[in-house]
Amino acid sequence: MITERVKELVSEIDNAVVTSKEQLESFRLKYISKKGVVTELFDNLKNIAPEDRRAVGQELNTLKNLAQSKFQEFSAALENSADANPEMLIDLTLPVTPNLQGSLHPLTIVRRRIIEIFERMGFNVSYGPEIEKDWYNFSALNFADNHPAREMQDTFFISKSEGDVKDDVLLRTHTSNVQVRLMERQKPPIRSIMPGRVFRNEAISARAHCVFHQVEGLYVDKNVSFKDLKDTLYHFAKEMFGKDSTIRLRPSYFPFTEPSAEIDVSCFICKGKGCNVCKYTGWVEIAGSGMVDPNVLTNCGIDSEEYTGFAFGMGIERITMLRYGINDLRLFTENDVRFLRQFEGA
Ligand code: PHE
Repeated sequence: MITERVKELVSEIDNAVVTSKEQLESFRLKYISKKGVVTELFDNLKNIAPEDRRAVGQELNTLKNLAQSKFQEFSAALENSADANPEMLIDLTLPVTPNLQGSLHPLTIVRRRIIEIFERMGFNVSYGPEIEKDWYNFSALNFADNHPAREMQDTFFISKSEGDVKDDVLLRTHTSNVQVRLMERQKPPIRSIMPGRVFRNEAISARAHCVFHQVEGLYVDKNVSFKDLKDTLYHFAKEMFGKDSTIRLRPSYFPFTEPSAEIDVSCFICKGKGCNVCKYTGWVEIAGSGMVDPNVLTNCGIDSEEYTGFAFGMGIERITMLRYGINDLRLFTENDVRFLRQFEGA
C-alpha cells in the first residue's frame, strides 16, 4: 500500500511545474514541511511490519530527497527569472528614447512678457467677451454709424439688429471693448491692460489673419497727460526690446483717441542702420495710441472735465514676429512641432 502511495508521489513530484512564488510555497507545504505528506508517511512507519520497515524507510528517504532537490531546483529557477529581476527585461543596448519636453507657444511667451512689464508699472489685467455688441466694439468708442470699419469686409457679424446698430452682435475686432466695459463699471483711477483674441474678416496670408491677438492698455485718472503715455511706452520698449531701444511717435487717427499717435520702436535688429525687417527705415511700428477722446469718457459715464486718459493697443503676433524674426503669420496656427520646438526653454 505505502509503496503504491510513494510511487504516486514520486511521479507527482517529477511532473510538478512551479513558475511562481505562490506555487513554490504550495510545493513546499505539501512535500517538505512538517505538516506535509512526506512527514506524514514517515510518521506512519511505526505501523509498518518490522520486517518491511527498512525497505519502506529507504523508499521514503528517496522520496524526501527527491522533494528537496526539486524544491531547490525550482527556487533557484525562480530567483533567476525575469519576474524576480525586472531589470533582466531591460535591453541595455537599445538606443535611449528621447525625453521630449513641451514648450510654451511663442505667442504665450510674448503675451506673458508684455503683461509682466505692465504689471510692474502698476497696470492690472482685464478680460472681456469675444462675442460683443456693437456698442462696446464701436459706438461707445466714437465710431460714426457709417464708419468703414463696421462694414462686412472687416467685421464678422453674428446678428444684425432690426433697429439700432448698437445692438448688432459681432466678433470683436479689437480688445477696446474691454476698455468700455471697464470704464462703465469702475470709477477712475483705472490702470489696466487687456490681452485677448480679436477677429477681422481678412484673407489669411503671411501678413494677415482673421484671428489674432492684441494687448490694449488704458490709464484714466486726474491729470493723465500725453507725456505719461510717451514715458510708459518708452519704458515698455526698453524692457521688451532692450536697453538701447528708443521710440518715436507719428501722428495718426483713431475714432476713440485725440490726439492719436502710431508708436515706432528703433529697429533692434539693425540698430537703426537699415535692414529688411525695418524696410531700411530704422524703425518698426509696434502700437497705436492716443489720449482717450472725451466723447468716449462721456459715453462710458466718466466726467471728461475731471478726468483724462491714455490708451494704446498692440498686436501680439507682430511683436512676436519682430522679436523672434518670424516672417509668416501662419506659422503660429499651423502647430508644426519643428517650429514650436524652437521655443523650448525660451
Ligand atoms: N484699437 C486699435 C486697433 O485695434 C488700437 C488702439 C488702441 C489704438 C488704443 C489707439 C488706442 O487698431
